[in-house]
Amino acid sequence: MPDKKTPAARAAELREQLHHHAHAYYVLDTPEIPDAEYDKLFQELQAIEAEHPELLTPDSPTQRVIGQVLPGLVPVKHTVPMLSIRTETDTTAGGAEAFDARVRRELGLTESDPPIEYAAELKFDGLAINLRYEGGVLTQAATRGDGETGEDVTHNIRTIGQIPLRLKGKHAPPVLEVRGEVYMRRDDFERLNERQREKGGKTFINPRNTAAGAVRQLDNRSLADKKLSFYAYGLGDTQGWDRPPTHSAMLDAIAAFGLPVNADRAVVKGAAGLVAFHQAIAAKRDELPFDIDGVVYKVNDRALQEKLGFVSREPRWAVAHKYPAQEQMTRVLGIDIQVGRTGKLTPVAKLEPVFVGGTTVSNATLHNEDETRRKDVRIGDTVIVRRAGDVIPEVVGVVADKRPADAGEPFDLYKRLSGKCPVCGSPIERPEGEADWRCTGGITCPAQRKQALLHFAGRRAMDIEGLGDKLVDQLVDGGIVKTVPDLYKLGFANLAALERMGGKSAQNLLDGIEKSKSTTLARFLYSLGIRQVGETTAKDLARHFGSIDRLMDARLEELLEVPDVGPIVAESIRDFFDQPHHREVVDQLRAAGVNWPDVAGTASDAPRPLLGKTLVLTGTLPTLSRDEAKELIEAAGGKVSGSVSRKTNYVVAGEEAGSKLDKARELGVAVLDEDGLRALLEG
Ligand code: IVH
Repeated sequence: MPDKKTPAARAAELREQLHHHAHAYYVLDTPEIPDAEYDKLFQELQAIEAEHPELLTPDSPTQRVIGQVLPGLVPVKHTVPMLSIRTETDTTAGGAEAFDARVRRELGLTESDPPIEYAAELKFDGLAINLRYEGGVLTQAATRGDGETGEDVTHNIRTIGQIPLRLKGKHAPPVLEVRGEVYMRRDDFERLNERQREKGGKTFINPRNTAAGAVRQLDNRSLADKKLSFYAYGLGDTQGWDRPPTHSAMLDAIAAFGLPVNADRAVVKGAAGLVAFHQAIAAKRDELPFDIDGVVYKVNDRALQEKLGFVSREPRWAVAHKYPAQEQMTRVLGIDIQVGRTGKLTPVAKLEPVFVGGTTVSNATLHNEDETRRKDVRIGDTVIVRRAGDVIPEVVGVVADKRPADAGEPFDLYKRLSGKCPVCGSPIERPEGEADWRCTGGITCPAQRKQALLHFAGRRAMDIEGLGDKLVDQLVDGGIVKTVPDLYKLGFANLAALERMGGKSAQNLLDGIEKSKSTTLARFLYSLGIRQVGETTAKDLARHFGSIDRLMDARLEELLEVPDVGPIVAESIRDFFDQPHHREVVDQLRAAGVNWPDVAGTASDAPRPLLGKTLVLTGTLPTLSRDEAKELIEAAGGKVSGSVSRKTNYVVAGEEAGSKLDKARELGVAVLDEDGLRALLEG
């Protein structure tokens, strides 16, 4: 018990434990204790430090304090200048080939010499930071500034959980400066803007500006609602440390000190290796949880780097190779109003088509009326459109000085619709305190019905192949399908009679509908389209209640017992099942043959052979899709992580597995194929 130890010894022990758990949670993404347990340790340390202020150390986990206000940012002269890198703007393979050719020429190599080894990594889109560790303790964090002199932003950087306040291990060098990028994940950015929209506040333009703005704030309270992240990619000053001989080994060493290093990196050979890396990352750019604007190639061998040297502030041994931009300018041709699944009315800008983030975009969301007014988007305006990842394209702002004299009126949703739903004519309303106007037509509104059907049939819901928006339009407009259970009453004759529907497509759709009948409780719940119930909540509910009947009858207090379910979500679920026609829909679907395996009672008594295990998926498996594999693993109690670390229990590798497989081998993590995974799942 704590009282047996001196306060100093207990404080040191608590700090040690908290550092360890913070690393597991923030860097490895594999927490070992529940949050509540962490909080308890944290509070115990806080209490000791409050009573014995002399025990407080700068690396104490309690020093990630919010609430510091500085009068100004203090300049910091970098011991080693922070350089920038040359950018290769040719976004085709030519960009990589040109760099390799240049490096070979400068090293005086000929065609008969072997290919050069490169470290290839992501180019994170954030803000460069220099972290200075002295004796293993974070003593200063500074921005790049002009490269010679930056600004001291330690008070803000300390709030980033991923950045260790103390290096791991017993052999921290006397001085180690680590350089990397502070960035914001797309989901953290979307959540921030969602909250801003809800409270009618100003939304942020993009993750990079938000991260960069946050890091340079004088008052670090403004970071309380902004979750920032960090990846290390280089070194500054070091003293008393034997630098590893290659860039890749250096990154491994930094990771071993407890800093986050991105796993999507590789050591490749020659121009062909660079091109392959550029293409592989382009293919998964949308799936990454954060924005990148390119990749970076670095000559791996330090001796060669030194030989190549610098040209005017830029190393000759590194280059950034870009991807097409995720933001572009275009013109607003009109503003439409769409009716969503829950009746929500969303203004959507019709755009002059523009190529952004890898596809042609001609519609972009304006989110809601307040947002449209705040940005003051009008027909005829030139706007900046952003499309990143699988997030819906959005208008981020108007280019004010390009507004034409004949631009449209300020946006007024009610006036535009004369108070009526554009699809069913029902009155529209905007409930007090909400940001959205809604159609009050409910399931009588064909637009809501269509959206509900599309959501139900979606890939992540019941996954009915072949039921797209054109077909749903025909089915609803023709009065053939009114509610979701009607889908299961469709016959060959109904379908084959539809426009552009041959006998073969009709049969395929019927097969798809039949196949969808075997599902999981989580998918079924998600597919019902209950407000506030996304995929994750649906999974949590399925795991907790085990059966739809128990969920439908659950009282508010019982719903609140589910992890991550708060009052708003609980109430929305209760409201949904309090409406008799929703219960009817569930009954009709079950009667039509929709079924799922029992989640034997509640989570606690179902067999969970992967409980506490972390798995990483890489490459293409022979029969399971990534989503299916993830679902099976989670159902068995396991966790799927995006990156391989020492805490990973298994890497499941399929065809064309990439750097994650290399990393697994490097760390000695067990590697399985699909059969191996199935064997594990069966316990
Ligand atoms: S290396 C001497 N690696 O891009 C090499 N930079 O001008 C210094 N960046 O200011 C930079 N990801 O903010 C490097 N994997 C990466 C990077 C990266 C993003 C940023 C960094 C730098 C700018 C390049």
